[in-house]
Amino acid sequence: MAKLDILTYPDPRLHTVAKPVAAVDDRIRQLVKDMAETMYEAPGIGLAATQVNVHEQVVVIDISETRDQLQVFINPEIVWASDKRKVWEEGCLSVPEIYDRVERPDRVRVRALNEKGETFELDADDLLAVCIQHEIDHLRGKVFVEYLSPLKLNRIKSKLQKRERTRM
Ligand code: NI
Repeated sequence: MAKLDILTYPDPRLHTVAKPVAAVDDRIRQLVKDMAETMYEAPGIGLAATQVNVHEQVVVIDISETRDQLQVFINPEIVWASDKRKVWEEGCLSVPEIYDRVERPDRVRVRALNEKGETFELDADDLLAVCIQHEIDHLRGKVFVEYLSPLKLNRIKSKLQKRERTRM
């Protein structure tokens, strides 16, 4: 297993649209393992392949407190979303130290493939619903801060660019 480098906003590669995984094979299972290790080490509760510069539709999530409930979503799609919406304060491993409020559907149903290539559906609410939507956005090339006002977004960009320049 290997820990992968996480791209930092506003790296333009974060805007790449990920392709569907054609076959869930050993290469994809290795990617899942590497992504999980990277997420746990960061530490974070979710990671999309886009964030490690792999532009295929793979997401790993673990929202458990015990950090041993890995959930894998390959080619995930939202097949239903509630009309009811909810605001959560989100953060992102690609946008270090920035947290802000985003409104999204409160509940979603997601369809995806697991590590064996089997299709499953899952109803998600609360943090899991937020996390799934946040990670699927990454696969589409969207980062959560892009829901914020242009003013806030510019402030975040210059803060992160400054941080990048002073890193030694
Ligand atoms: Ni993120």
